[in-house]
Amino acid sequence: MSGYFYSHRMQLVDSFGRVARKLRLSVTDRCNFKCDFCMPLKPTWIPSSEILTFDEISRVVKILASMGVSKIRLTGGEPLVRREIEKCVKILKKVPGVETISMTTNGYFLDEKAAALKESGLDSVTISLHSLKPERYEQIVGRKDAFSKVLSGIKRAQAVGLSPVKLNCVVIRGCNDDEILDFVELGRETGLVVRFIEYMPFDGKNMWNPDRLVTGAEIISKIEEKYRIERLPREHGSTSLTYRIIDGSGTLINIITTMSQPFCRDCDRIRLSADGKIVPCLFSRDDYDVKKLLRNNASDEEIADFIRSAFMKKFAGVETLLKNGEVEPLIRPMHTIGG
Ligand code: 5AD
Ligand code: SF4
Repeated sequence: MSGYFYSHRMQLVDSFGRVARKLRLSVTDRCNFKCDFCMPLKPTWIPSSEILTFDEISRVVKILASMGVSKIRLTGGEPLVRREIEKCVKILKKVPGVETISMTTNGYFLDEKAAALKESGLDSVTISLHSLKPERYEQIVGRKDAFSKVLSGIKRAQAVGLSPVKLNCVVIRGCNDDEILDFVELGRETGLVVRFIEYMPFDGKNMWNPDRLVTGAEIISKIEEKYRIERLPREHGSTSLTYRIIDGSGTLINIITTMSQPFCRDCDRIRLSADGKIVPCLFSRDDYDVKKLLRNNASDEEIADFIRSAFMKKFAGVETLLKNGEVEPLIRPMHTIGG
């Protein structure tokens, strides 16, 4: 079906032959949390007049979908602080060629929003949960009433049938690296897919340093202290390693090894920031302002050409930065682009 829809425009291909299939769509740079590893002490917010409207977002998505982008992940900041975000989901779900819509959220508003999101066509959700210890968790996210709200949000997401429901846990040495096995246990008990994420140098507070990075290899050996696990084949374009616990429970664990073992070579993602910039790669310094065209009566063809030439300039990826030791200083705070 989707083949029909994008047959009339060329696919989005970069200079390495990588084809875009997934869009990370940041709908706001605001957030009601202040996670240590993300939010600067004094964030500068994008003025609201610069934030794309739902009409503008849907126009870009239609054009992207006509070029073969079929999976959309809404991110932020925190996507649920964007007013009436469920309307946006509804609009995007109807775009020809769009197959799935998912969301990465901090979960705070999920208890109240999950049912409406599901009804609007949201397929799945990933909730950030960096500790199972309430006090520690609230310390990390900088908000005192968060833990129980987020747990209710996770339960509600499962109850309304969002699927899969995954958890994102950024692992930081000396902070939460003693909880890896607890998270695995939670996955076994609840059917939630736990994703361990390597700490990336995008923290607004500049706390990142190589010593605080817990690599995927370390996470795996920790899990192997208690469980027998097997690695599953990696899906094309996937940023994560997937392991199954061999205990009959079918528990899956994802490990996002962006820093120690990035998978840039078959990356199939393109990003759109909340203020309408095409960001070809999470780690790229360059972005391309598509909003200017949207607000200057450009035609769909002109916008498609602009995006195509922006994507063509997608650089090789974090792999090359790491090789050249160029990953620091931080490129942009995470809240301005989403993970
Ligand atoms: N390193 C790794 N992951 C991060 N996230 C936010 N900041 C960082 C960082 N510096 C996570 C969020 C969310 C996902 C999109 O990225 O907590 O789960
Ligand atoms: Fe907000 Fe997510 Fe950043 Fe935490 S990681 S401050 S929840 S945008």
